[in-house]
Amino acid sequence: MTRIVVLTGAGISAESGVPTFRGPDGLWEGHDIEDVATPEGFERDPDTVLAFYDARRRVAASVVPNAAHRALARLEGAIGDDLLVVTQNVDDLHERAGSHNLVHMHGELFRALCLACGARPTCDGDLIDRPHCPACGERMLRPDVVWFGEMPYDLERIEQAVVACDVFVSIGTSGAVYPAAGYVALAAAFGAHTVELNLEPTDAAVPFDDARTGPAGELVPAWVDEVLSARSPRA
Ligand code: APR
Repeated sequence: MTRIVVLTGAGISAESGVPTFRGPDGLWEGHDIEDVATPEGFERDPDTVLAFYDARRRVAASVVPNAAHRALARLEGAIGDDLLVVTQNVDDLHERAGSHNLVHMHGELFRALCLACGARPTCDGDLIDRPHCPACGERMLRPDVVWFGEMPYDLERIEQAVVACDVFVSIGTSGAVYPAAGYVALAAAFGAHTVELNLEPTDAAVPFDDARTGPAGELVPAWVDEVLSARSPRA
């Protein structure tokens, strides 16, 4: 069976109304990354950082999955564990669309990380109020989001899947942040067919075999249809 790894970035959630990071109107526009997305920024001014992620959590809670998220869930429904979705997104739109075989390599907005005991409880309220950790009772919760300078989650599992896959697909990511940006080169080196579905061409580490430009809400369902029709025996 063909094994597929899909890497998603902010672009897949754009049509749901979640802002991307880079470019005009991006989330980093008007924010110093050092201030809101590093452990040092959190140490300097925790209130600003907690308020920033509380606002992002509220935005993420107010939107719904789009056709691209739903198409990937449909693909998993058809091919099961032969599909792994690796997302850099901290929203929960993939799971709300129905994806299960999913890795949040940059963490999750709807989880907190306890700096006292290391628990990662679910979190749908504001952290600025300093709620108690449900595991240890301390009031030292931060967003369970991977900041610059921190180690992304599940790298071993992801790399194993990338080297073993037959098809690697990158959706809605600028390829500006490593290690995710390096996965296309790794997949290609191990013989995978590489596909990019993005609104605009990107400066990928190595050229994709098949690069398509357009909105994810159109490109992803069309690509999933192609994959499924290639797998199903013709009538
Ligand atoms: N459909 C497809 N692609 C889109 C759409 C859309 N509707 N809208 C925007 N895009 C593309 C943009 O052209 C861009 O190439 O999505 C990409 C988004 O890029 P970034 O904003 O850089 O987001 P991402 O690649 O996910 O960022 C990676 O950077 O700051 C960190 O941790 C943060 O996970 C994030 C990481």
